[in-house]
Amino acid sequence: MVLRRRDSMGREGTMHRNRQRDADRQAGVDEHHGRGAAAAGEEQRPRAEQRRRQESTGRVVDAERTIVPPRGLAPRDGGGGDRVGAEPGCPREELGPPTASVLPGQQPREPEGEEGCGEGDEHVHASRLERYARNVATKRYLFTPGPTPVPPEVLAAVGAPVIHHRSPEFLPVYERVLTRLREVCRTESEVLLFGASGTGAFESAVANLVSPGERHLVVSAGSFGERWVAMTTAFGADVDALRYAWGETPDPDDLRARLGEQEAKAVWFVQSETSTGVVADVRALAAAAKEAGSLVVVDAVSSLGAVPCETDAWGLDVVVSGSQKALMTPPGLGLAAVSEAALSATGSSPRFYFDWARTRKAQEKLDAPVTLPVSLVAGLDVALDLLLAEGLEAAFDRHTRLGRAARAGVKGLGLELFSPDEDRSAVVTAVRAPAGIDSGDVIRGLRDRFGITIANGQGELKGKIFRLGHIGWFDVFDITTQIAAIELVLADLGADVERGVAVTAALEAFSTEPSRA
Ligand SMILES: Cc1ncc(COP(=O)(O)O)c(C=O)c1O
Repeated sequence: MVLRRRDSMGREGTMHRNRQRDADRQAGVDEHHGRGAAAAGEEQRPRAEQRRRQESTGRVVDAERTIVPPRGLAPRDGGGGDRVGAEPGCPREELGPPTASVLPGQQPREPEGEEGCGEGDEHVHASRLERYARNVATKRYLFTPGPTPVPPEVLAAVGAPVIHHRSPEFLPVYERVLTRLREVCRTESEVLLFGASGTGAFESAVANLVSPGERHLVVSAGSFGERWVAMTTAFGADVDALRYAWGETPDPDDLRARLGEQEAKAVWFVQSETSTGVVADVRALAAAAKEAGSLVVVDAVSSLGAVPCETDAWGLDVVVSGSQKALMTPPGLGLAAVSEAALSATGSSPRFYFDWARTRKAQEKLDAPVTLPVSLVAGLDVALDLLLAEGLEAAFDRHTRLGRAARAGVKGLGLELFSPDEDRSAVVTAVRAPAGIDSGDVIRGLRDRFGITIANGQGELKGKIFRLGHIGWFDVFDITTQIAAIELVLADLGADVERGVAVTAALEAFSTEPSRA
């Protein structure tokens, strides 16, 4: 068994050193022994031959490989069934020791640290890292702004045997979830729970509050604002859209002025516009709407549990959210916290599944009106327990710090933020792709090389920005993982990125205490 010496130098250093060695070799200098190249070559060639023979029989052990077990590989077949390893062009044997750097169509090379090969070494280095990542990281990293990663405790609850939605076992779970949702929404009102995505829960608000021909004002500054303009329009409302360019932050004074021109039964807006990373000032927007006598409906799908949303204290009549973001549960549950004022202002649009009165009546008796997705409710129960055990304020602080870390990391790379550089922007960090690079290529690079999923821009922003989620079950290392991988992928794409500083910047930013206004 041969223990191969590993090169601990960074990429730049490796390339530089190897280029120097190439030059030295041409000049007939052997750097290890200070003897002539011919003599050294004579002596080293048989050793290299021997090493290659050992590699091909799998006897060479790479130090890195021995200390990091190849997770996710089936022990009985040495990982032959590994999905990534089985990809075309990456046969299992080729994964071998990560330093077995014989690429298809190339002559076998001597191990790093003993010989370099100039420019080609860059490719070998990248390929080695890639193989290493594939070998150990069959793990996938979900860093999108929804769905978001789900803690194992929650997954375990979701995976438990299915129980009946009207059984004595389910009722306490259901009751706890409804109570905990009120706590998370900071409301005394009923929180209605639906087997639906966030859009479904939002549709419940539209179906219950909109009557055809009625005037409603929708604030739109991104993809989800546009969705609510389209949905209220589809239900026949006379919609006044207060539109902003994507990426701008809605201004309460604009809303006040618009409502001064013409009243609206309800004002609809998005707290965290996931498509841009902007988090609106809900309290101020709600105050402007209330002054004009409008109901307030808030899309808190990506923000509930991540940033403050004081339903009762801020006078929010309807707060809509979904299970798959800061509530750390798989997709499939939608909720709407509904005030008494909203319940008594329902309109004439046809509705059945999403009828608030029907749902509320059933919930009051803990008698689900339909077959609820019991497994998701069981998961949400555990997730809400985790969130409340951390404490809502602590969770908000954590998200503030995650946002700081993400922005510091992005700036450390020398990239430009698309989302605002402010603490309130604690949910999604949107980043402009460097000039000449399509953000889709960054996203593909992260996925294919490291199993990392982040999000592209939506609509007009597709290809121009990428979005880093930090919602829910995230810690600072989820940020540094994203930043480190982006650094590598952008460098490979030829972008002019700052090397080796961004991760430290992110860690430092995370460690600063948020001040509560
Ligand atoms: C702000 C916002 N609103 C609404 C939605 C729609 O939710 P869903 O996809 O669960 O229907 C999303 C989902 O990404 C969102 O981020």
